[in-house]
Amino acid sequence: MLKILPKIRRPVRCLSAVVAARNEGFAKVMQSDLLAFENFLGKDGVQKDDISNHITDWTGQFKGHGSVVLYPKSTEEVSAILAYCSRNKIAVVPQGGNTGLVGGSIPVHDEVVLSMNKINKQFSFDDTMGILQCDAGFILEELDNKLAKLGYMMPFDLGAKGSCQIGGNVATCAGGIRLIRYGSLHAHLLGLTVVLPDEQGSVLHLGSSIRKDNTSLHTPHLFLGSEGQLGVITSVTMTAVPKPRSVQSAMLGVESFKKCCEVLKLAKSSLSEVISSFEFLDADIMECLKSNLDLHPVLSKSTPFSILVETSGSNEDHDMEKMSAFLDECLSKNLILDGVLAGSSADAANMWKLRESAPLAVTRDGYVYKHDVSLPLENYYELTNVMKARCGDLAKRVVTYGHLGDGNTHLNITAGKRCEELEELMYPFLYEWVVAHGGSISAEHGIGQLKLPYSNLGKESEERLLTKKLKNIFDPNGILNPYKMI
Ligand code: FAD
Ligand code: MLT
Ligand code: ZN
Repeated sequence: MLKILPKIRRPVRCLSAVVAARNEGFAKVMQSDLLAFENFLGKDGVQKDDISNHITDWTGQFKGHGSVVLYPKSTEEVSAILAYCSRNKIAVVPQGGNTGLVGGSIPVHDEVVLSMNKINKQFSFDDTMGILQCDAGFILEELDNKLAKLGYMMPFDLGAKGSCQIGGNVATCAGGIRLIRYGSLHAHLLGLTVVLPDEQGSVLHLGSSIRKDNTSLHTPHLFLGSEGQLGVITSVTMTAVPKPRSVQSAMLGVESFKKCCEVLKLAKSSLSEVISSFEFLDADIMECLKSNLDLHPVLSKSTPFSILVETSGSNEDHDMEKMSAFLDECLSKNLILDGVLAGSSADAANMWKLRESAPLAVTRDGYVYKHDVSLPLENYYELTNVMKARCGDLAKRVVTYGHLGDGNTHLNITAGKRCEELEELMYPFLYEWVVAHGGSISAEHGIGQLKLPYSNLGKESEERLLTKKLKNIFDPNGILNPYKMI
């Protein structure tokens, strides 16, 4: 059923040109402030030159104007900085691995960048309960590697794992390719240490390090997806999951989107407890992977849609039997045109290389308009078709990949360079369409700067008001990550 939407105010010109004016209530960083920072962190904790990596986002589409990056090494140092900045009204942007895709992790005007890169020492793991406690600056892949030695793994995985940090993952409530199996980070988060941007730099230890605790509001969860608006996360306690001993991967070629949904239904029922990924690629992203990165499909036939399905379990024979039976049923029910089961980890890696290279492949066209939306499955691919028709020849490509098992599509529209005419066609139409069809304008990447003009869409005003009240409680001077999300 279509929802009737309130009219939203159109942003001034186009998406990435919507930059909020500098809030003149914030102080500019002076020499005396730099000396104070050096006093807290030492000279090597304050970087003034060569900071372009910290003020430009992964896509290269957002470039900020900050002049200093700070590297605290502990919660106490974060506290000292936030207390100082709050008292002196200096705006601050927390930064993890800077892999975010909505311009949330870089300064807009002259905010100080608070990098978490050096808060990465403390790591402990209870290998009976599967509970991890670690500093927020650990890179996701490093954590996975450490846990692998103990027979465990992180319950989520994403293409940016080599750079993104666990603190950033919590701050964005990262989704990724294992959510269908292990649920979102809400299912795993137990506790956090956070520093508030108030005049004391208050340090809060929220939640606990035990699996079950219903003694208070589940406060750490407020920080999941908080995008650096409420406080700086310095330590994370969460559950990890046993590392599977058997992983089976298969790539399927499918004729229609309707059949992709039928394959999903069948996969859920017949692979039930072992299904761990159900990823989607259309023929246009396959073509883009080939022409931009020289990556070739693993299926011999070219099909309109491809699905990468994976199981993770503890018994190879059992899982293999299930996967084979599932593939046979797909074939006998005429749901797939082609299918290949990975015979080795190298085969599986080739399949995953296709899916995980999709974000890079689209950037090679020149300019990419990324979308990260949730939709009911009946509208999931309809959006791609609607946008293809709407954009016509102005777009170089309209391609889709995504986490089909989670109802999350990544529709990417590319052009040789930024094109205002195309933007006029796309926005706000696309986001209004998503909300009118019962979807969310951000399934995983968040709001940041990119979607700020649309952040009211689909949200009740009471919820927006509550969010603002919470922001005021945590950040009374409004210094943390301004011009974004809230
Ligand atoms: P950053 O980019 O540094 O920051 C992101 C936001 O969190 C910013 O608002 C920042 O201020 C805030 N922040 C960071 N650290 C902290 C902290 N310690 N305390 C408070 N606030 C903090 N995302 C998905 O959800 N699923 C995917 O499958 C996925 N795949 C990706 C693939 C590629 C190739 C790339 C480039 C990105 C992908 N992303 C994906 C997006 C991105 O990797 C995630 O959002 C990730 O969780 C960001 O982590 P980060 O450490 O890089 O955070
Ligand atoms: C993905 O699933 O690949 C990521 O969310 C990144 C993207 O959307 O490009
Ligand atoms: Zn994704």
